[in-house]
Amino acid sequence: MKKITKAVIPAAGLGTRMLPAAAGVPKEIMPIVDKPSIQYLVEEAVEAGITDILIITNRGKEAIENYFDYSVEYENKLASSGKLQLLENQRSVANLANIYFIRQKEPKGLGHAVLRARSFVGDEPFMVLYGDDVIDAPVSTTRKMVDVYNEYGMSVVGVQEVTDEQIVKYCSLKVEKCSDRIYKVSDMIEKPPIEKKYSNLSILGRALLTPDIFDILENVQPGAGNEIQLTDAMAVQAKSGKVMAYEYEGIRHDMGSKLGFLMANVMMGVKNDEVGEEFRRFLKVFSKTI
Ligand code: UTP
Repeated sequence: MKKITKAVIPAAGLGTRMLPAAAGVPKEIMPIVDKPSIQYLVEEAVEAGITDILIITNRGKEAIENYFDYSVEYENKLASSGKLQLLENQRSVANLANIYFIRQKEPKGLGHAVLRARSFVGDEPFMVLYGDDVIDAPVSTTRKMVDVYNEYGMSVVGVQEVTDEQIVKYCSLKVEKCSDRIYKVSDMIEKPPIEKKYSNLSILGRALLTPDIFDILENVQPGAGNEIQLTDAMAVQAKSGKVMAYEYEGIRHDMGSKLGFLMANVMMGVKNDEVGEEFRRFLKVFSKTI
């Protein structure tokens, strides 16, 4: 089995659900407490042994590249004022992994974005972490999915159960349960009308893909929303019996939506070492006023 050392983070979506802020700040840089969401993804990948990460960006997302560079002004200031722990934290961001960037020149969909990674990935299985989906789990979800890949040797999608209201906006999977949290996938459909859903299991933010996905993506026709859908390419793999699903633990925060952004900050804010205690006290009082 080939070792998984590469990950791709598509972050070239327009983020229209986060307007007006997204017009000035890439949604992937918007923080949960004090850390940009994209850093949570990079850390999750690194925890799973991934060493090389390609971030797919577009015009206007330079802030992401700058964030993973050294920030000399801050570092000089922190060094001269003796804040050495903060200085080390700041430096470590730039050294988390080998981080590469490429642009998707037009936002033609997630499948189209992933296709930009072809020459970076080459002939290896690789992990895709959707740029606005942060997972708060006890163990890296990527690590768990690598374990499933090592057992089955085929693509693995990260899934959770969603409501009927959500499934029509996401994708729906046709599955057969194999063991605890593990399913065999035989088909999937993007944004199904409710009467066409297969199940309420949906891919939320994570996929570990075998490299044959690129040939499939080259030939996929635009689907839902007239975009090249990654789901349509993964459905081709699924129909030939080459996709497993892993129902991951923990909470997935949709940082591309206003509600997801607010909920993530509250849920992770109350656990924060520095401000959590005071924030909890505030919430208890505030919740009585609403
Ligand atoms: P989303 O559908 O959540 O992102 O795509 P979006 O298109 O930015 O959302 P809205 O509807 O405009 O608010 C899931 C992931 O795929 C990336 C996004 O950046 C996000 O991380 N993506 C999507 C691309 O990289 N390119 C695309 O053309 C579309």
